[in-house]
Amino acid sequence: MKNTPATETLVLESHHVQEIIAQVGVDQVMDDLISRMYEDIRQYTPEAMQIPARSGFHYTLPHTGLIEWMPLYARGEEITIKLVGYHPGNPEIFHFPTILSSIYRFDTQSGHLMAIMDGVLPTALRTGAISGVATALMSHPESSTLGLIGCGAQSVTQIHAISRSMDIRTVLYYDTDEETCNSLNSRIAALNLDCTFVRASISEIVQNSDVICTATSIDIGQGPLFRDLLSRPHLHINAVGSDFPGKTEVPVELLRKSVVIPDFKAQAVVEGECQQLTAAEIGPEISALIKSPAKYKYIQERRSVFDSTGWALEDHIVMDLMISYAERLQIGRRLSIEYFPEDTKNPYEFYTQKTAKSSHMISTSNAIS
Ligand SMILES: NC(=O)c1ccc[n+]([C@@H]2O[C@H](COP(=O)([O-])OP(=O)(O)OC[C@H]3O[C@@H](n4cnc5c(N)ncnc54)[C@H](O)[C@@H]3O)[C@@H](O)[C@H]2O)c1
Repeated sequence: MKNTPATETLVLESHHVQEIIAQVGVDQVMDDLISRMYEDIRQYTPEAMQIPARSGFHYTLPHTGLIEWMPLYARGEEITIKLVGYHPGNPEIFHFPTILSSIYRFDTQSGHLMAIMDGVLPTALRTGAISGVATALMSHPESSTLGLIGCGAQSVTQIHAISRSMDIRTVLYYDTDEETCNSLNSRIAALNLDCTFVRASISEIVQNSDVICTATSIDIGQGPLFRDLLSRPHLHINAVGSDFPGKTEVPVELLRKSVVIPDFKAQAVVEGECQQLTAAEIGPEISALIKSPAKYKYIQERRSVFDSTGWALEDHIVMDLMISYAERLQIGRRLSIEYFPEDTKNPYEFYTQKTAKSSHMISTSNAIS
């Protein structure tokens, strides 16, 4: 008898993810995610996991946007694929987030869909968490001023994750949208951060910050966000918004003065800040720093840029974490999405059975009359 795997799919809708976070606590979730980033990336090898650069459809009609797939194959075990949409007009046109996504997990024994999960909040969480890791590894240990350029959805989890790795005293922030600037304080109120928020210009941010997060929806070809300005000799930048060919945030002059660490080099050279650099100007991937922190500690005294384009391993890690919480807390739904006929070679089995049943009913009713 062959071993029969499960046939149901665990579904974590957005309200399930929210319920998990409410029960576990938002700080605990962020801390757990950050520690899983360290652990799982430390163990990552290309032999154990195949992670191709993402691909997708990019368009300008009816609105500018893209839908991409981000696959990961944990050899011999499972496949995680995130489908993610970037539609910078969403907040204004539909009152939707700019980033919409969902994440899928498949069993490679049978191809069965094991789990589906909302990806909107998990994407923000994992993008924050990996910046938290990069900041801990690359920023100066006495850093206290965080600059934010772009104060949208991602900025909330950037501040949160970085606050778990750095003692933030002051946050200098800037966004081109007035309303977004005005609402930042209320959006991060639940985090109870003990720091001062000051609205600032981009040049004030670049000159006075120890750590900066750029997370803007700047248009393709419109970057960088600023020209090379005077900056602290140990400035660390988490460059989050450059994730599309031709879309960049950080000036090439500053990149050239910095140690540039991509999340995933093959992708960063196509869509990250690394587009602006030659191969010789690009440093090792973040996984190298996680595996050998002492070797790269010198970066903390230098200008550095974490070129975050979004790595499928981060989605795999956040999905693992959410599934483990869901199982422990008994949250989520189990649905029978796929069809498993008794006769595996008869996709019409259901129809044959239905027809047989109704003809039986007709013949029975005929017999009565
Ligand atoms: N690296 C990753 O893994 C990752 C993950 C998610 C999102 N992103 C990227 O991060 C960026 C932000 O995403 P989001 O979900 O916060 O979007 P969002 O729409 O919520 O916020 C983007 C903000 O950028 C502001 N902005 C646009 N141009 C600007 C400029 N020139 N200067 C200052 N502010 C400007 C907008 O007003 C908006 O408030 C996007 O480019 C997105 O693709 C990256």
